[in-house]
Amino acid sequence: MALTSPLGKLRLGVNIDHVATVRNARGGDYPDPIRAAKIAETAGADGITAHLREDRRHISDDDIERLMDALTLPLNFEMAATPEMQAIALRHRPHAVCLVPEKREERTTEGGLEVRREENHLAHFIAPLREAGCRVSIFIAADRAQIEAAHRIGAEVVELHAGAYCDLHAEGKFAQSTAELHRLRDMSAFAHSLGLEVHVGHGLTYDTVKPVAAFPEVMELNIGHFLIGEAIFLGLDPAIREMRSLMDEARTQSAVA
Ligand code: PXP
Repeated sequence: MALTSPLGKLRLGVNIDHVATVRNARGGDYPDPIRAAKIAETAGADGITAHLREDRRHISDDDIERLMDALTLPLNFEMAATPEMQAIALRHRPHAVCLVPEKREERTTEGGLEVRREENHLAHFIAPLREAGCRVSIFIAADRAQIEAAHRIGAEVVELHAGAYCDLHAEGKFAQSTAELHRLRDMSAFAHSLGLEVHVGHGLTYDTVKPVAAFPEVMELNIGHFLIGEAIFLGLDPAIREMRSLMDEARTQSAVA
């Protein structure tokens, strides 16, 4: 069901994939992403996000198993829309499943899922996940046609890709990044008007989080790479607390504006 209060609490989902990236660089058990998830929990995260990629480059099947056992926070399980991943999700029944596009050669999830061209396939793909009790989220570009298609196939949540906004900001192209920010704002409002719960993720940092956190229709941000990077300098707990407080600050300012 859609949220009625547009200024409800903004949830922070901490993506722990890159703890696993560092672990896998040496092939052992350290550092353990489950330990990171536990720290995230005490530092103010509202959920944990983990992406089990087809090539298992970071999170492993065993990590998902252990997260399901150890977590008290809800798990947002990111995956490609493949039969293998569907079977894994149906076995574990995580709180949420976020469908993302996946290309083997990409460094990270570069774009949103193409829902419009795959409507039939995706509608059939998500039906059993929903029946199993998972909230289904679709990671898409901030694009009206994709949002409408996500709504038509029965998704409850859309996560809008913030990569273009964040990358342009990092490159110092502020006029273009502001245009992308406005697109995110307008498409968040549009998705919310259809009854979809709106999340935003990818590439968010301390510098880019506040304007997005201020959008009243956005209910969750999923943030990973930057936080794990900051953890090298600050420690994971303070890095997450700082992000949490920037989000809360933006939300409060937006509520009084
Ligand atoms: N949301 C989704 C759907 C993603 O695929 C990712 C990256 O895996 C993130 C959020 C987090 O992005 P970042 O690691 O850049 O913060």
